Amino acid sequence: MNGEPDVLLGISGGIAGYRAAELVRLLVREGVGVQVVMTAAAERFVGSTTFAGLSRRPVLTELGGAGDPVFPHLDAARAARVLCVAPCSANTLARLAHGIADSLLTESALAAAGQLVVAPAMNVRMWEHPATQANLAVLRDRGAIIVGPDDGELAEGERGTGRMAQPAAIAAVVEMLLRPTGPLAGLHVLVTAGGTREPLDAVRFLGNRSSGRMGIALADEALARGAIVTTLVCNSAVAPAGGTIIATPTANDLERRVGELAPTSDLVLMAAAVADYRPAATEPGKRRRADAFDLRLEPTVDILAGLGSARRTGQVLVGFAAEAGVDLASARAKRERKGVDLIVLNDVSRSDIGFDVLTNEVVLVDAEGHHLVPRADKRTIARAILDHVEKLLPR
Ligand code: CTP
Repeated sequence: MNGEPDVLLGISGGIAGYRAAELVRLLVREGVGVQVVMTAAAERFVGSTTFAGLSRRPVLTELGGAGDPVFPHLDAARAARVLCVAPCSANTLARLAHGIADSLLTESALAAAGQLVVAPAMNVRMWEHPATQANLAVLRDRGAIIVGPDDGELAEGERGTGRMAQPAAIAAVVEMLLRPTGPLAGLHVLVTAGGTREPLDAVRFLGNRSSGRMGIALADEALARGAIVTTLVCNSAVAPAGGTIIATPTANDLERRVGELAPTSDLVLMAAAVADYRPAATEPGKRRRADAFDLRLEPTVDILAGLGSARRTGQVLVGFAAEAGVDLASARAKRERKGVDLIVLNDVSRSDIGFDVLTNEVVLVDAEGHHLVPRADKRTIARAILDHVEKLLPR
């Protein structure tokens, strides 16, 4: 065959198995050597011949094949720099978390020397089950990279979180691990972007004018610098070019996902415009037109301040401050209060910069002082922010 594989791709049972074919195609096109290993359940959904053809290698299956060496999977597990399990069923996820080695795939996982990347795919209720979430936390603590799952239509006709992440997003993570280059190579960067929307009823929300462009420019720039980027997107007009993208429409969604992902991130860029208040009650249907009504709001949790108080050594936190005017004193106070390294101060009273336009002008406020980044397109501003952040990262 064509040398040792770079990636051992584990395919477990599920409808998403057919989308793993696209993942193999994308990786092979980029010159990545892929060795596929399938569980017996996976073979019930999609045939191994497809994967053998795409990967140009015989697939490791439970039944094996004539002439196979005795421990082909263990050889592949030792050689591969990445073990990617996509799709990863709830069952395989549990086995990976607990070190149960009862198939070629799970045996390989125990013997694997490389980085584990997991792309879960399952029914939304299985995904949300505390057992699955606990298994996921175990894998994350052990350093596994979890890509997705996405929200959307599930195979069973339900909607919710559970769709396997886009093959391109999984391929981007794998390629990044294989070829880390750039000043942020191999670092985990978490970006939040856009404005949260807090539902009033089934069709209305309280929102803000953030377009998400500044956060997305930061995600794109971090990707270009070699980082492994996860972007939590709150109603953004644009999407990042790669990495893992998770929709977090409300402050609550954002709080939950930040809580999951921030502990294993090296850098958190909180560019999202998070609502400070949400309706105290949300009507399940559409509110009928009637007399005036009083809306009671309750405060949301300050996510960034929570991170500031729970940060680990070496982790860098960046917050944004939307102020009317260049109010350095309040930006400094915000930096202290939220316990972050850097505050990016935005003057939201000007119409030519900041919210909902393509350009920005910011002042970077850190422990040392402040630094003006003059008006420019948001990607240029993102470069200036990350140039500054790189000086704050332990290296
Ligand atoms: N932020 C957050 N959680 C919230 C509100 C804001 O994590 N519930 C984050 C934002 O993502 C941003 C930073 O906090 O990085 C500053 O947001 P800003 O709205 O400027 O500050 P506030 O905390 O709302 O303070 P104030 O309204 O008093 O200016």
